Amino acid sequence: MTPMALTFELQPNPHARTEAELAQVLSDPGFGTYFTDHMVTITWTKGRGWHSATVKPYGPLSLDPSAAVLHYGQEIFEGLKAYRHPDGSVHLFRPEKNAERFQRSAARMMLPSLGVDDFVEAVRQLVTIDARYVPAPEGEQSLYIRPFMIASEPFLGVRAAEEVTFIVIASPVGPYFSEGIKGVDIWVTDEWARAGAGGTGAAKCGGNYAASLIAQYEGYEHGCTQVMFIEATGKDRVEELGGMNVFLVTADATLVTPALSGTILDGITRDSILAIGARMGLEPVERRLAAGEVFDGIADGTFVEAFCCGTAAVISPISGFKTREGEWRPHGQDFARTLAIRDAVLDIQYGRTADAFGWTSKVV
Ligand code: PLP
Ligand code: COI
Repeated sequence: MTPMALTFELQPNPHARTEAELAQVLSDPGFGTYFTDHMVTITWTKGRGWHSATVKPYGPLSLDPSAAVLHYGQEIFEGLKAYRHPDGSVHLFRPEKNAERFQRSAARMMLPSLGVDDFVEAVRQLVTIDARYVPAPEGEQSLYIRPFMIASEPFLGVRAAEEVTFIVIASPVGPYFSEGIKGVDIWVTDEWARAGAGGTGAAKCGGNYAASLIAQYEGYEHGCTQVMFIEATGKDRVEELGGMNVFLVTADATLVTPALSGTILDGITRDSILAIGARMGLEPVERRLAAGEVFDGIADGTFVEAFCCGTAAVISPISGFKTREGEWRPHGQDFARTLAIRDAVLDIQYGRTADAFGWTSKVV
């Protein structure tokens, strides 16, 4: 039996930002710094299921210090964006894909499954009430939406929580990388791993990002913007970056990305690029990719471009890969194919072209 759809109680924020305050925020939103006037919370209790869906003023949570999430990290999250189209309407991009991935992450972390329709409806509720926060598309601004689920039960035993809270917050954002489309340098770590076989690499759980920080900071020390992880065992297969998937473009127009191995995130931007690339005449290839093959291929001109992709970072050209041994810079430094793919994705997201794939869904 399909559970009944949740109904949302609305508690409007009496202290919502004024239009002048909002204009100030939108004049330079940064990334994940400012949040909208509201948030959505839904509670899950063992035996009762999901209940108490509420749209309420954005504000601090009241959490018991013994809440399991604070001790054992039983937590998952998602990231998607709402885009303003030229006619002023606001659209989501493939939100059901985030909902499905959220269910897979929940299953891995022993958290309860939230229905796809309820997930998407919670996002729509927040975007609807805070639609004035969706920026104009200039400067690639959008509203970044962060749904997450935490083990809020106050209990110190190590077991799956019997009370869980689902929350959605949203933040108007500009570009994630200040480098923009000039290209980012990537540090390839030979020391730190993000995930291993049987681990949580394919789940979008907070711990993966905590585990990536040490390598990320090692990258900063070497002048790089992001870090690329190689498989934990064998130290050979390229996986993904700390918060993005990776692609290479060959001279003979194939679009190569590491296959989903169970240790990397099944990116929605990645999936969209594989489909759009095929339509643009590139041959999409998901396969095992060795780090040495990437470096040699860049050196001998087999790989002419590289880029990273994700919801937050969109698509950024990779100007070079660095290791302790050296650095490799793709010859195609004008990033022509990367930028063409980037435009094709953004044109759909911002409604500047016909949505041939049916990926956008109108909220307001
Ligand atoms: N890989 C990791 C580790 C990520 O955090 C993200 C961002 O969500 C991605 C890949 C890209 O996924 P998506 O395109 O669904 O945002
Ligand atoms: C996203 O792209 O949505 C992410 O979660 C990545 C994170 C680095 C912000």
